[in-house]
Formats: sequence, C-alpha cells, structure tokens
Amino acid sequence: MEGQTLSLEGIRAGYGDFQALFDVGLKVAPGEAVGVVGPNGAGKTTLLRVISGMLKPKAGTARFGAADLAALPAHALPGIGIAHVPENRRLFPHLSVEENLKVGAYIPSARKHFAERLDYVFGMFPRLKERRRQLAGTMSGGEQQMCAIGRALMCSPRILLLDEPSAGLAPLVVAQVFALVQRIRAEGLTVLIVEQNVAQVLRVVDRAYVLEAGRVVAEGTSAQLASDPMIRSAFLGGH
Ligand SMILES: Nc1ncnc2c1ncn2[C@@H]1O[C@H](COP(=O)(O)OP(=O)(O)O)[C@@H](O)[C@H]1O
Ligand SMILES: [Mg+2]
Repeated sequence: MEGQTLSLEGIRAGYGDFQALFDVGLKVAPGEAVGVVGPNGAGKTTLLRVISGMLKPKAGTARFGAADLAALPAHALPGIGIAHVPENRRLFPHLSVEENLKVGAYIPSARKHFAERLDYVFGMFPRLKERRRQLAGTMSGGEQQMCAIGRALMCSPRILLLDEPSAGLAPLVVAQVFALVQRIRAEGLTVLIVEQNVAQVLRVVDRAYVLEAGRVVAEGTSAQLASDPMIRSAFLGGH
C-alpha cells in the first residue's frame, strides 16, 4: 500500500490569546511509530487536535501526503485515512461495544465494509468480540481503551493518532495497552502516540519528540532518547 507522510512545519497554535504550540515541526513516515512525550500541559493534545483538524493552526503547515490538514474540516479527516483516539477515550458508555464500533464506521466508504472491518477488529482484539453486547461504560479501563482503538480502526485508517492511551490505568493494564499498540504496529499501521509515560512509550516507537511548554526540545530514536542524560533525569527517574 502506498503511504503518505505526515508532516508538520512551524506550527503555532493556541486558544484565544494563549499560545500552546511554538513552531512545532514533526514528520511521521508510512509504517513508522512515532511518539511525542512531555509533561502535563506541554501541548501534546493540542498537537493532535491540529493534526486532526479540530484546531486550526495560527501559522505553519500540516500535511498528510498532498492534503493540507488546516484546510480540511475535522469530519473530513477519516476520509483521508486519519483516525484519532482522543484523550479519555470518549466512548458512548450506554451503547454496546459493537454499537461503539459501528460509530467508528460512519463514513460512507467504511459503512460499506462494516462487516469486514468488524471481523478485522474482532480478529485483532478477540476480547471485544466476547464483549460485543456489553455496554462500553461497564468495561474495565483497559477494555475501554481497546474499544476506543478498535473504533478508530473501523474506518481503515492509514495513520492512528493515540492521545495518552495509558492515562488513568493501573500499571498492569498500562502494559496491556502498550501490547495493543505493538499489535497495531505489527499490522503495518502508522502510529503517532502522545504520552506522559515515557519509559513505556519508548519501548514501542521507533522515534520520539520531546515537547516541553509547547516547544520540541529534543528528538531522536527511542534508543538515543532512552540513553540521553537529560531525558533520563527528567522523565526516566535518573539512572
Ligand atoms: N480548550 C482550551 N482552552 C484554553 N487553554 C487550553 C485548552 N486546552 C488546553 N489548553 C492549554 O494549552 C496548554 C497545552 O494543553 P494540552 O495540549 O492539553 O497539553 P497536554 O496534552 O500535553 O497535557 C495548557 O497550558 C492548557 O492549559
Ligand atoms: Mg493531553
């Protein structure tokens, strides 16, 4: 499958007069898994909002292949292959797992392939198949994250944007969620994942950017960042 590169250059964005991102640039090539790590408030969610068209940048360019992301409305993004798993998952708690997955297939091209995609997602996450009739709100945090990722996969995305999939989960469940990310990678999907859990995310991505107070302050391969003294002391507890 031919792929498109996600490419951001000189992105400035914010809310009203408040500037949250300062000249941020990043690239994600087809098939890569890339992380954006940084503390609470660094601008990670804002960055994903810019990529998925929910927030228009004040300056800079954001492209996915030839598409200018700033020129597209948010609802057009699934149609060009961008799927966003938002912060806090945003499932419909009173709908079943299967109904939540159906919501992910709302674009016409996905609706046509609903049964096929459902099989694909159930094949990847058999737990969702077992729980297909269960109300999403009654599932565990890890299962809900699996459902949110499954929902995003229903529209056959080329790139999956994950906003802190490990947030609020117990340590054992965090490991399970990162194992899901590895399964997605094994399918050849491109992934951009933002996380505060630096140690875990560096195990599943090829490269990462470090975002601090709205600026990219470091970037490198996972191995480079994991052995960088600045990163180690700021995010990995020293040694
Ligand atoms: N809707 C909003 N209105 C005003 N300020 C916001 C809004 N969302 C986020 N911010 C501010 O933008 C900055 C970056 O936030 P965010 O992108 O959510 O960071 P992160 O996801 O890294 O925790 C923070 O200072 C935050 O308070
Ligand atoms: Mg956030």
